[in-house]
Amino acid sequence: MDKRRYIRWSKLALIGVGLSIGLSFAGCDRDDHRAIRAITGGEPERGRVLIRTLGCATCHIVPGVRDVEGLVGPPLERIASRAYLAGRIENTPENMLRWIRFPKSVDPETVMPQIEMTEQDGRDITAYLYTLR
Ligand code: HEC
Repeated sequence: MDKRRYIRWSKLALIGVGLSIGLSFAGCDRDDHRAIRAITGGEPERGRVLIRTLGCATCHIVPGVRDVEGLVGPPLERIASRAYLAGRIENTPENMLRWIRFPKSVDPETVMPQIEMTEQDGRDITAYLYTLR
């Protein structure tokens, strides 16, 4: 093989490797989201938008949601990996949904406000928060 052909082939091989790495990451992401949809009954991407539009991000720093740097509540980075929510209840999808929709039912004194939303909205938000591992 002459040198130029060799270079052309190695470039193609590199592009191939790059593509397959990229695709396997994308595949991972899809599997991940499928599992999250199954346990929460929510759609992460819709949840991400709701976190902005419902104003959660005015009080919380939420990775992937751009807003003012909300510092009233704790940052929600890696919330999916924590054992407890607000230091009070175990971190399960159902408890997350309850906390997001009715925080005062967990603790009447909490500063976190009760924000009007449907159950589906709550599930979508839970789904997004569960992507934050
Ligand atoms: C007015 C400010 C405010 C808004 C708006 C707000 N929160 Fe909170 N949030 C708080 C505070 C304060 C806490 C800590 C509560 C406590 O420990 O009693 C908290 C706690 C939490 C926690 C538990 C965090 C942890 O570290 O365990 C989650 C999850 C959460 N909020 C999600 C949301 C979501 C989702 C929204 C939007 C639907 C939202 N919050 C809107 C103030 C807010």
